Amino acid sequence: MSLSFHSCIVICLDGPAGSGKSTVASLLSSRLGWPHIDSGGIYRTLTLASMSKIGKGKSAEEFGELFSSKKIKPESLDCKIIMQKTNQINYIGSRDIKSEIRIPDVTSRVRYIADNHEYRDYVNSILRSFTKNQKGLIVDGRDIGTVVFPDSPMKFFLETSPSIRSIRRKNELQEMGCETSLKEITSKIEKRDHEDRTREVGGLRKAKDVVMIDTSELTLDDVVSRIVSHLK
Ligand code: DC
Repeated sequence: MSLSFHSCIVICLDGPAGSGKSTVASLLSSRLGWPHIDSGGIYRTLTLASMSKIGKGKSAEEFGELFSSKKIKPESLDCKIIMQKTNQINYIGSRDIKSEIRIPDVTSRVRYIADNHEYRDYVNSILRSFTKNQKGLIVDGRDIGTVVFPDSPMKFFLETSPSIRSIRRKNELQEMGCETSLKEITSKIEKRDHEDRTREVGGLRKAKDVVMIDTSELTLDDVVSRIVSHLK
């Protein structure tokens, strides 16, 4: 078994929505000086680009039907994922789309892109391409340790109680100016968990050699220290 991909050490961080993966990944990135790739951000960028190209539909379901009937190639969406030092920047054409990919309309539609095998292969090849000329990389998502970098010895799965995940999501939405009730957020998180866990390819699963970390009772700094201690 190779220890790394193109001699790059890949820290794989998988877990459900709201488990703290992206915050832990960016803290790790600052601590180690390695780039952080947010794979969910790439699925979201492709979703937003598809919505601009074919329309968002009156509902997520209508978008799903439109998306499957139009059969758009991911390459034709003009999305570029650029690494600037350790930060990922997502472009559609020449536009840096920043936090627009986090809006609820994208969140409710991303499953149609994530369910599509051609799009998954496309995202996976982008993720693997980032290992070139890098000493180390931190990648967060759902299938990073199981599908994208199964040979990496540094696989972590973050878990958090559903109530804490809902509160984190509520705070995140509030910061973006969206007021939503905790009940509505919890039910959306449960729906997305179900979709993520039951996805035929690239679903949220635990790799056999994964290290489980429950982030409910730990500070995110503690989680980072735990991961760094495995590196040593
Ligand atoms: O991490 P996130 O919530 O931004 O991810 C958005 C969606 O993308 C999520 O609902 C599932 C999907 N996703 C995936 O299928 N595989 C990944 N490696 C990352 C995200």
